[in-house]
Amino acid sequence: MQASETRLAPEASASPRLSAVPRSAPSRRTLPRGPRQPRLWQSLRYALRPYASIDDTFRRYGDCYTVHPLGGPPMVVFTDPEAIKEIFASDGAELRAGEAAGPILGPIIGWHSILLMDGERHHRERRLMAPPLHGERMHVYGGIMREIADRVIDSWPIGRPFPIHHEMQAITLDVILRAVFGVHEGTRFAHIREGIVRFLAQADGPTAAFLAIQAFQVELRGLSPWGRFVRNREAICTELLAEIGRRRSEGTAGRTDILSMLVEARDEQGEPMTDPELIDEMFTLLMAGHETTATSLAWAFHHVLDRPDVLAKLRAELARVVGDGPVQPHHIPQLDYLDAVIKESQRLCPVATNVIRRLTQPMRIAGRDLPAGITVSACIYSTHRHPDLWPDPERFHPERFIGARPAPHTFFPFGGGIRRCIGAALASYEMKIVLAQVLSRTQLRIAPGYRMRPVLRTITVAPSAGMPVVLDSRRP
Ligand code: HEM
Repeated sequence: MQASETRLAPEASASPRLSAVPRSAPSRRTLPRGPRQPRLWQSLRYALRPYASIDDTFRRYGDCYTVHPLGGPPMVVFTDPEAIKEIFASDGAELRAGEAAGPILGPIIGWHSILLMDGERHHRERRLMAPPLHGERMHVYGGIMREIADRVIDSWPIGRPFPIHHEMQAITLDVILRAVFGVHEGTRFAHIREGIVRFLAQADGPTAAFLAIQAFQVELRGLSPWGRFVRNREAICTELLAEIGRRRSEGTAGRTDILSMLVEARDEQGEPMTDPELIDEMFTLLMAGHETTATSLAWAFHHVLDRPDVLAKLRAELARVVGDGPVQPHHIPQLDYLDAVIKESQRLCPVATNVIRRLTQPMRIAGRDLPAGITVSACIYSTHRHPDLWPDPERFHPERFIGARPAPHTFFPFGGGIRRCIGAALASYEMKIVLAQVLSRTQLRIAPGYRMRPVLRTITVAPSAGMPVVLDSRRP
């Protein structure tokens, strides 16, 4: 996420809602060593070769270095587990994630998003939002996930290459719409889905970078990219407000979706979430949960289909645990090898390369004195490939996770500490259901001639060209 730091933390557009950080850039001489090239070059290098550029920098500068992303403060990157432990142990007073993300994400997902909050507001929001995303609730969503996966699998052409990443996006979007928003088939579903597809296409399209820059946020009666974006967002908000209104007036009895649970949630003072809060959090869950899960699935297919031995072991486990029938929620805890395959895929190819925090006051991390105003990052990608932590780190070897639980500061695809991904249980569960169902029902292979390159898509790293595959056969 070095280049995306440009989008996550441009000081020029800081909102008055966020507490001020010193504007003067700390001198390069007081910070750990790092690449000395111009900022534009450093950001471009990351944008064009995200994994390789991190590898190069790690090889040259080791466990701690400073990079200088375009438009943002210097970023001190750590891959030393002790430093990462310190970063994740922070209660958020000095190391603020919301402050780093605010200026950019605010206008896009809304100012009431948990991603933008720090301190007590963030604690309150997590307490409200965590219960419906808790591990035990997953059984409720398992059936929906399998049904959606089956419908998408049934639409795949036989014998013709198609990009499996796009198919995974279709699945994860429908899971969010049904499990999170609680909207099903019919006109309402079609309206909301259409609006969201337009919204996501723009948030992930070629104009995405401009959306985040205040100077380009001009409406021009809906003709500019920003204008179209605002109109799309308003259209979705109108539909969501109607959904919230329906739940408030009709009650939520019998409903299992996350929106209904949030409508019912109360904080310690007995206060419910307001409509604007609910809407912004719905956008947050959509934006944070859809592309990340689809991309993680695309990486898992890349690794599994590339290794006949792993595929054979997975199929044997599925045959033993699931048999001929569909995958059921009670099968999931028994699929140890599948769990290890997913973790190993996230270890080698994390969709987010770094997590970031803004330092609001001087702080000592791993014996280094760091000034206020900079960004501090725990580098997921390099820590996951650190030769001192992982034997034969470049090898895809799921067995390393069997019967082993790596420490949360050596393996952290979902980040850590008080900001650890709130949707981790949902995403892990969904990945297992989808992979199990696809691999039980289909014979897939990587499309002939495909050469994978890791590419940056807004803020996630994905396999290039949508990861094309060919379907040879499919069981009904
Ligand atoms: C495989 C899929 C996913 C990956 C790899 C992923 C990764 C991450 C990472 C790295 C963070 C930042 C953590 C930090 O700063 O320490 C994060 C935060 C977050 N994620 Fe996920 N995520 C995934 C799926 C989801 C899903 C499915 C949802 C919700 C439906 C979700 C909602 C969130 C939210 C709301 C936050 C902000 C938490 C906070 O600031 O307290 N994510 N995620």
